[in-house]
Amino acid sequence: MTHIGVLTAGGDCPGLNAAIRGVVARATAGGAQVSGIEDGWQGLMQGRTRPLGRDQVRGILTRGGTILGTSRTDPYEHGEGLATLKPTLTETGIDTVVVIGGDGSLRTAARLGEEGLAVVGVPKTIDNDIAGTDVSFGFDTAVQIVTDAVDRLTTTAEAHNRIMVVEVMGRQSGWIAVSAGLAGGAEVILVPERPYDVEDLARRVLARHESGSDYSVVVVAEGAPDPSGERVTVGADHMGFERLGGVSNRIAAELERLTGYETRVMILGHLQRGGTPTANDRVLATRLGIRAAEAVLDGDYGMMVACRGPEMILVPLSTAVAEPRSVPDSRLDEVGWFLI
Ligand code: F6P
Repeated sequence: MTHIGVLTAGGDCPGLNAAIRGVVARATAGGAQVSGIEDGWQGLMQGRTRPLGRDQVRGILTRGGTILGTSRTDPYEHGEGLATLKPTLTETGIDTVVVIGGDGSLRTAARLGEEGLAVVGVPKTIDNDIAGTDVSFGFDTAVQIVTDAVDRLTTTAEAHNRIMVVEVMGRQSGWIAVSAGLAGGAEVILVPERPYDVEDLARRVLARHESGSDYSVVVVAEGAPDPSGERVTVGADHMGFERLGGVSNRIAAELERLTGYETRVMILGHLQRGGTPTANDRVLATRLGIRAAEAVLDGDYGMMVACRGPEMILVPLSTAVAEPRSVPDSRLDEVGWFLI
């Protein structure tokens, strides 16, 4: 009998529990046994697993976070790769690992696959930057949360005739900014993919205010450069993983100086990753989980499940993780009026 170990690794996002549930429901219906691996790769390195049957995944569809826990521990950075996982694999009898992860965790999965581990990847991230799939789950929820926030910030900006600079996540991709900025009617959207000139930005805001709408909302992706072209970080986490954040403070200071308008900053941060997934993310995560279990039952290893139009397909993990998926020029051009 196939014994699947399922893990969630990297930053959490809404929909992880829905994906776990999808994997377990399909795998057990297909006659496989499933174990949950705790805290991502760390659990596999330390022998922390627990049985996951249909009963253990009831009632989790709507819950944010992950019942398995997650971490950024990596078996190559913090161990010897597959060799570090072997004791747990042997002891538990887990013969296949379903990795629900972002680009970093899927890259690790691809490498372990090359070393001989039977592995299937499921793309998750609010950043939406995984190549090979049209969309990853978590993104839709994050866009909805940011859109709600922009709607609220717009009314207070309007009441005070202020500029409101809203910083959103996304690492080196501007997907959240472009989508939520458009949905929330932001005057300007700044993304890592396209450079901007802060003086143009100020002129644009001034023109808007002079024409009678004397408030503006500016949505900034955390990976966008500051006015001098510099990338803004807040150091690294305890794993050495670089943390982005704070660019909005620098942009706001320059905007206030150049326009003379009072400016406020809102960094939305982890709010974007919390809470229940949207209906779209529940559906996407469940479908990806089901397809991943089917891939295992069919013996299709070294693959990532991906959404392409209406289909759930398999793409080689190695191609999915080759390059992060940026917002393409065509998409940036569509929202060109909003991009400085
Ligand atoms: O990759 C998801 C993400 O939320 C990024 O958008 C963000 O830069 C990063 O994770 C934050 O990581 P952490 O949860 O470690 O602060």
